[in-house]
Amino acid sequence: MIGFPLFPDVASTIATGVDRLYFFLTGITLFFTALIFFLILYFAVKYRRRPGRVAEQVGSDHQGFGLEIAWTVVPFFITLVMFTWGSSLYIANSRVPDQALDIYVVGRQWMWKVQHTNGRREINELHVPIGQPVKLTLASQDVIHSFFIPAFRVKQDVVPGRYVSMWFQPTRAGEYHLFCAEYCGTYHSGMIGRVVVMRPEDFQKWLGGVTEESPVRAGEKLFNDFNCVNCHSTGARQRCPQLGGLFGTDVMLEGGGTAKFDEAYIRESIVDPNAKIVKGYPPVMPTYRGQVSEEQLLNLIAYIRSLTPQKER
Ligand code: CUA
Repeated sequence: MIGFPLFPDVASTIATGVDRLYFFLTGITLFFTALIFFLILYFAVKYRRRPGRVAEQVGSDHQGFGLEIAWTVVPFFITLVMFTWGSSLYIANSRVPDQALDIYVVGRQWMWKVQHTNGRREINELHVPIGQPVKLTLASQDVIHSFFIPAFRVKQDVVPGRYVSMWFQPTRAGEYHLFCAEYCGTYHSGMIGRVVVMRPEDFQKWLGGVTEESPVRAGEKLFNDFNCVNCHSTGARQRCPQLGGLFGTDVMLEGGGTAKFDEAYIRESIVDPNAKIVKGYPPVMPTYRGQVSEEQLLNLIAYIRSLTPQKER
C-alpha cells in the first residue's frame, strides 16, 4: 500500500456498511463546507462597498421567508437520513447472532487477556475463525479500557464492574491491529495487540491440543472452593436457588419484577448478592467482592451456565 491508508482494511461483515455511512457523512460535510465558503467569497465580492452605494438590510419585510424555510427544512431531512441510517446500522450491530462463538476478554492495565471456551488462553492476541460470528464478553479488572479492532469497525468501552459484549464476523483471513482506545494510564499506548483471522480448519487446529483447564472445570473448582455448593445444592442444607437450567431464563425477584439470568446478573449476584434476590429466598449470601478476580468470575459463570437441571449437584 501507499503507507498511509485512508481507511483500515475491510475485514468484517459490517465494515462496508460503516464505511458507506462515513463516506456519506464526509461527503455531505465537504459539500456544505465548500458551498458556504464559496457563498461567503462570492457575496463579499459582489456586495463590497463601492462609492455611491448604501448598505441595505435584506429580508426585512418577509422577502427571505421562502429561503429561511428551505434552509431549515432541507438540513432537517438530511439529518433525519443520517439518524435513520446510523441507528439502523447500530441496531443491526447490537443484535448478537445466536450461534456466535463465545470468547471472554478481560482488560487490565495494560494488557488484554483472552480466554476461549475450551480453556485456551492468550494475551494481546485474539485468534478467530473466518466466516463465523464471534461474540466477545468483556470485563475490566481496573479502569475503563476500550476494545477496538479498526479492520472490523468495532469498538467497545470496557467498564469495571459490569459486562459488556460485542460481536463481529470476520470475512478475510489475515492479521489486524487490536487497540485499547481509551486512555487508561501510563502504558495505554502499549495496550495493543493483533487479531489473527484464520480459516476454520486452521482455527480448530490452533484451538486444539490444549493442556489448560477449561473455564467450566475451573469454575466448578471455584464453586467448591468458595463453598457455593453448600447452599446451592439440593438437600437439607439448601438455602439458595438451584442454578441448573436457569441461564437465559427470567427469574422472579423478591419484591416484584423479573431479571434475566445472564452473565451480568450472575456477576452482580456474586459481588452484590442483595441487589436482586430471587423470590422466596432469604438474603443470606455473603458478598464475594474483592475475593474473586474478573477471570474467576468468568469461570464461575461458564460453570453455572453449563449446569442443567439434571446435572444439578
Ligand atoms: Cu487500556 Cu487504554
